[in-house]
Amino acid sequence: MSNKVWNDVDEYIIEKLIPDNQTLENVLIANKQAGLPKIDVSPTYGKLLYLLAKIKGAKQILEIGTLGGYSSIWLARALPEDGKLITLEINPEHAKVAEKNILDANCQNKVKVIVGKALESLHTLTESNQLFDLIFIDADKPNNPHYLELALRLAKSGSLIIADNVVRNGEVSDESNHDESVLGIRKMMDILSNDPRIESTAIQTVGLKGYDGFVLSVVK
Ligand SMILES: C[S@@+](CC[C@H](N)C(=O)[O-])C[C@H]1O[C@@H](n2cnc3c(N)ncnc32)[C@H](O)[C@@H]1O
Repeated sequence: MSNKVWNDVDEYIIEKLIPDNQTLENVLIANKQAGLPKIDVSPTYGKLLYLLAKIKGAKQILEIGTLGGYSSIWLARALPEDGKLITLEINPEHAKVAEKNILDANCQNKVKVIVGKALESLHTLTESNQLFDLIFIDADKPNNPHYLELALRLAKSGSLIIADNVVRNGEVSDESNHDESVLGIRKMMDILSNDPRIESTAIQTVGLKGYDGFVLSVVK
């Protein structure tokens, strides 16, 4: 089984189940033109986020890691008219591209991009008494244990927490691998395995983005 098969099947799924996707394809084109790295979620993953937000009936969404706003727009599209998404991004250039993409996708009334270190923005949010129905963690992986702790403070009973890139080509279970990102994922997994406030699973994925996976958790 090769990456070619994974890619072909992803293309097949996109053609069948996500055919009318021009606005979001335009986001990827704009990101490429702006020189952003191609580390946004795949279309099938974006649609999964959208479906999870819909299933949850999310009205308040928090995203850690905006890039060009591709996943932000998928999530924002699942929100009701009065729903809101806050997305956190450290890089002002990324945030600028995201804001333009969010405007072009007509999601500007629902989405607020906060520029700065996510840890600082998250601490500020914890002081605002705002709680979120769905939190998507997709920024610098070494900080994942901290992001999870703060996400738990910003969640309520029944909230979903999703964390991306937790398999990393199988590196997560390779004990000889001490990469900072891998260590961050493992520390987050340790919290998830012991914390009585949350129930979780992790799913391995293959496709256009190679071999990876995500954590899906629900707050008790
Ligand atoms: C994987 S990308 C996000 C992809 C996006 N969620 C999507 O699927 O379209 C990670 C983003 O997190 C940002 N980032 C990295 N470290 C950060 C930090 N400490 N605080 C906030 N954002 C950070 C990066 O600049 C990058 O734009």
